[in-house]
Formats: sequence, C-alpha cells, structure tokens
Amino acid sequence: MINKRKRLTSFCTANLIKKSKETHPLTWRLNKEGNAILLNEYIQKDGYNAVKRTLNKLSPNEVITKIKESGLKGRGGAGFITGIKWSLTNEKSLLLCNADEMEPNTYKDRLFLEQEPHLLIEGMIIAAYANNSKKGYIFIRGEYIDAINIINVAIKEARKKKFLGKNILNSEFSFDICVHSGAGRYICGEETALINSLEGHRANPRRKPPFPGQIGAWGKPTVINNVETFCNIPAIINYGLNWYQNLCLPGSEDYGTKLMGCSGKVKNPGLWEFPMGITAREIFEDFAGGMINGYKLKAWQPGGSSTGILLPKHLQVKMCSNGIRKLGTRIGTASLLAIDDTINIVSLLKNIEKFFYRESCGWCTPCREGLPWIVNILKNLENNKGKYKDLDILIDLTNQLTNGKTFCALAPGAIEPLRSAIKYFRIDFDKLMV
Ligand SMILES: Cc1cc2nc3c(=O)[nH]c(=O)nc-3n(C[C@H](O)[C@H](O)[C@H](O)COP(=O)(O)O)c2cc1C
Ligand code: SF4
Repeated sequence: MINKRKRLTSFCTANLIKKSKETHPLTWRLNKEGNAILLNEYIQKDGYNAVKRTLNKLSPNEVITKIKESGLKGRGGAGFITGIKWSLTNEKSLLLCNADEMEPNTYKDRLFLEQEPHLLIEGMIIAAYANNSKKGYIFIRGEYIDAINIINVAIKEARKKKFLGKNILNSEFSFDICVHSGAGRYICGEETALINSLEGHRANPRRKPPFPGQIGAWGKPTVINNVETFCNIPAIINYGLNWYQNLCLPGSEDYGTKLMGCSGKVKNPGLWEFPMGITAREIFEDFAGGMINGYKLKAWQPGGSSTGILLPKHLQVKMCSNGIRKLGTRIGTASLLAIDDTINIVSLLKNIEKFFYRESCGWCTPCREGLPWIVNILKNLENNKGKYKDLDILIDLTNQLTNGKTFCALAPGAIEPLRSAIKYFRIDFDKLMV
C-alpha cells in the first residue's frame, strides 16, 4: 500500500534549494517522489540518534531544560513554549500527539505523518522520557487514511527494533504509542475536546483550568503537542541550543525553522521548510512563483482560515509570531492562501464562516447562535438581499465572539477573517446593502 500512490504532498519536496540537516532539520531526509522514509532509511539518515543520546546521557529534567532553553514554541497554532508546558506537567503523564489537522488550507502535519513517520515517533519517545509517560496516543484526522496506515507501519517497525515497547534499547524506560483515528471534526483539534473525544465522549472543549497538564485524559496529567512540535525535538537534542536559535532570521522572536505553504492561483503551490522570519513576499514570489498569468493578488491569509485577511502591501511582513502580530493577526499554521482578483470577498467569507458554523460544537450560545447568523447575513448579501443594518450587525457579532466571551477559541478564530475583511474591503460589503 505504502509508496505506490503519488501523494498530494509530494509537491513539497522543495528541490529549489540545497538542503542539509543543519539548515533543514525537518525535511532534509525527504525524497522527490514523496515516499515514506521507513526505518532502514531513517536510521541511515541519522534516525534515532537523538533517542540514543537522550537515554544514555540525559535525565528527564535535563531534556525539559534543554527544550525550554531552546525556546521552541508549539506549532499547533497557539505558540505556547513547549519546555514550559512540559515543566508544568505533573509527574507520570500521558502523551498526546495532536494530528487532527482540519484547519482549511493546512497540510503540514500530513507531510510528517505520510513521509517522516519515524521523525514524529522519535520526537514522541524523547517527550515521553522527559515527561515520565509510558503511553502515548496519536489522535489523527480520520480522513488521513494513508497517514494512518503509514504511521502504523512505522510504529510496528520501531517496536521490532526496540525503539518502542518495554525497556527501550535495553534501558529502564518503557513507552508505546497507540494510533486513534478521529471522526473528522475540526473541534477535535482543540486540546480538551480532543481529550473528550479520545475518551469516547462528545467532543466538547473542557473548562480550563485545570489544564491537561494537571488533569487530562482519563483524569491523568497529559502533555499534548502538535505533530510538527514533536518533529522539532530530535534535532534540538542532536545539534544543541545555539544551532537551533541561530536558524531563524534576524528580527524573529521564534526560533528554528517551520513548514510554510502557499496555495491559491499561484504558479507553484507548495510547502517548504523555511527559517522563522522569512518574508511572506519571498514565499509568495520566489517559491510559489507569484500569480498565474491573468490573475492578480487581491488579498491573502497568513496561516489558515482562522487568520486575518491581509493586503498585497503587507507581503513584506516577516513570517513569525511578532511580525504577523503587528498586523493584528496570527501566523497560525503558516499556510499562505493567495486570494485572487476574481474572488468575491463576501462569498469567500460566507464559505469560511459556513465551515466554522458547521464545525461549531454548539456548547456555548454566542458561537452556536452567532455563527449561523453571520452566515445568513453573508448569504443574503451575496444574493443582493442585504439590508441597510447588516454591516452593523456583522461588526457587532465580531465584537461578541471574541476571546473570553466564548468557551473555546473556535469562534474567536472564526471571526478573525471577517473582522479584517470588513476593515480592508468595507466597500465590497457596503455596495451590497440596500
Ligand atoms: C478549534 C481549534 C482547533 C484546533 N486544531 C488543532 C489541530 O488540528 N492541531 C493542533 O496541533 N492544534 C490544534 N489546536 C490547538 C490545540 O488546542 C493545542 O493548542 C495544540 O495542540 C498544542 O500543541 P502545541 O503546543 O505543540 O502547539 C486547535 C485549537 C482550536 C481552538
Ligand atoms: S466556541 Fe463554539 S466550538 Fe467552542 S465551545 Fe463554544 S460552541 Fe463549542
């Protein structure tokens, strides 16, 4: 099954630039065909050296200190410092990998799952050792069927060679991983909804605090990280803090590299590993090749559908949290979407909000009632049935669905593109109202 089908993600091999393990720690092992790197090839390419180093030379606390000092931030969207999360977790935890990846226009975790499954497993083993976990789960989006098959094959291979299971590499440390496929809901990516879903309950987010690090899955302290976050760990252990912190470009407050994508009507859509702090213009022009002839860039989103809409003049921004924050939005999953001049902004927003309305878990009133209301208004505007007060109501709703007013961050994410679209394209809304 594995390696036969040309994978969608194979376009991301980024053969535009010469890669090495020092410059591209996440992707240097990839091949042009997009085939999975299975155990033998992974070991030939330095695989599991970081696990050996960890088990032979480091205590769990030393690993946590290293990861904390590296400044690695979670790659799941919220950007929390990984080592701090680990240091706040009570002893004897469960380890969860968030591979739900349902943010529209986002496919970075899929690359690791389909092509570098052992990199994820290696990162999880080191995290488990640091956090005193015996059991780990990969909660994976149900539609990622190839990824589920591949990661299961890799787990079996790792068990055979004693990288997983009892007394890993004849050490005192034991750890194993179970793959759990979700039913394909965006809300399952929210960490506490994921925990509910894993336990077999309805995927509603839980109240925080207590945070998963204190009381998580089945009442146990639980460390939860994104796929890409785990994939950063082995190289930090192998090459050290200085190297890691020098990977980013000047001006970036985030260290290391990151998978970043670009899609839409561009000449060369793709996914690449870049140093934090590269400009959006470089990604858009030098790597994605700019717009296909006949299309003009009208707007863009920096990191998935829950991030704000920006203008072409903003392309000089640095792709890192501090850079994008200055424009009032978030780096999110760093998957740029080029919105071309044939696209009606109101229709685009209607589609985006429809996605969030469908994926809302319905637990809290502002989100459950507010999102369908937004969709209805946008639908009416799109069909030239807009009313004079519609824009005021939309603006009011964007103020009602902000952080702190809803139970989780789904609704605040949902209104981010709407708020920015009204800011930059108000005229498109105004002309549709009677
Ligand atoms: C609605 C919603 C969906 C989310 N989806 C994902 C997801 O698919 N993958 C992910 O890693 N984090 C997702 N998150 C963020 C997680 O709640 C959590 O912050 C993350 O898994 C922590 O990992 P990190 O610290 O390594 O980034 C989502 C958050 C929200 C509010
Ligand atoms: S904001 Fe939406 S998704 Fe989050 S708890 Fe409330 S209803 Fe559910």
